Amino acid sequence: MNDFIYHNTTKVIFGRSAEEHLGEEVSMFGKLLLVFGGGSARENGVYDRVMSALRESGVQSCELWGVKPNPDIDKVREGIAMARENSVSLILAVGGGSVIDTAKAIAAGVPYDGDPWDFYDGSRAPGIALPVGVVLTIPAAGSETSMTSVISNPDIPDKRGCTAPCLLPRFAVMNPENTFSLPPYQVACGASDMLAHMMERYFVNTNCCDLSDRMIEGAAQTVLNYAPMSILSPFDYDARAELMWAGSIAHCDILDRGRGEKGRGSDWASHQIEHQLSAFYDIAHGAGLAVVFPAWLKFVRKRNPRKLVQFGRRVFHILGKSDEETIDLMIEKLEGFFRTIGMPTRLSELGIGSEHFAEMAAKAVEIKKNNLGSYVRLSAEDVEEILNIAL
Ligand code: NZQ
Ligand code: ZN
Repeated sequence: MNDFIYHNTTKVIFGRSAEEHLGEEVSMFGKLLLVFGGGSARENGVYDRVMSALRESGVQSCELWGVKPNPDIDKVREGIAMARENSVSLILAVGGGSVIDTAKAIAAGVPYDGDPWDFYDGSRAPGIALPVGVVLTIPAAGSETSMTSVISNPDIPDKRGCTAPCLLPRFAVMNPENTFSLPPYQVACGASDMLAHMMERYFVNTNCCDLSDRMIEGAAQTVLNYAPMSILSPFDYDARAELMWAGSIAHCDILDRGRGEKGRGSDWASHQIEHQLSAFYDIAHGAGLAVVFPAWLKFVRKRNPRKLVQFGRRVFHILGKSDEETIDLMIEKLEGFFRTIGMPTRLSELGIGSEHFAEMAAKAVEIKKNNLGSYVRLSAEDVEEILNIAL
């Protein structure tokens, strides 16, 4: 096991009565900037519940609406201007990864003199940020307990992450009932993303990381069980609760402590490749991962099969088979799971052809400064091969 530091300070407030605690969490702040997506929060009653909690606590607020999935840097700039104009002291994100990532970017941008894209192109690292609070409405990205914000810049086009301790939310209000209104496709995208967060961490070359291997295997089985259940029975509170907690556990970094290449963490190549797909084609992150991850597994299996065999035996209970047969079956079962929940497993299903493969591959490798992937290090040619497998 590698040396590690684990320090995650997000206060998680979970359950049917979670919003009742919102007032006390925000009461010490002056004015809040509330950040929302395209309108689901208004339709499903979350907005009314949040506003009623805020009224009771007596805090003032202003509102920024219209954050889109694959959130863009222009909305961040708009939010920074609004936050400054209103002298807000906390950014409250009410939504999923896109809304939370926008809130984080605004929080870092308010005390910064330059343009917020500087944090994403790597020219600056945010050192300070306004505090961010979250009311989570979709279990997926895990941004509610992560130090990362992922923002798109459609002008380039590019989509990049920025990670800094000051971006970690101060609290996350998580009521599984707020996810009852999710369309099945969004539940599936969320499940696919959280499973990918677990697998990115699982496939490492560290020899002894048995405890976290087993934590990831259990967490992955939770997603495999409860995602289809949540889609079949949208009002099954326990299924929704399992999935919601799994999304945060997947990405709060507890699952990759002590593992991964020293100083670099886990693999993350599939995520980098998917971010390019989202940047070029504006597809849902989870859907892109359901396509890229199996293709990545097919690429790395010949080069480094060890953990793929273990994942197949322990997560999918494939026993009494050779290593090769186990990997075949594991990938088949993983793709079968994605198809069962309504996810694509080929780029062609997303209407994506090979026209930008070379450009996307070069960018994915360049962003990681020629160090893409740690389970298997990938060159731009390797990424192109993975994209071709995904076609
Ligand atoms: O915009 P509204 O109307 O709210 O609708 C949203 C949106 O269309 C809808 N939705 C959310 N809660 C709902 C609901 N619809 C009905 N009922 C509800 N309760 O769901 C759609 C998707 O929302 P979004 O926030 O985009 O989803 P998700 O949480 O999957 O976030 C995806 C973004 O997070 C980034 C992704 O790249 C992507 O941009 N990621 C962020 C990470 C992080 N910060 O740590 C890590 C991830 O790997 C990921 O890259
Ligand atoms: Zn992700």
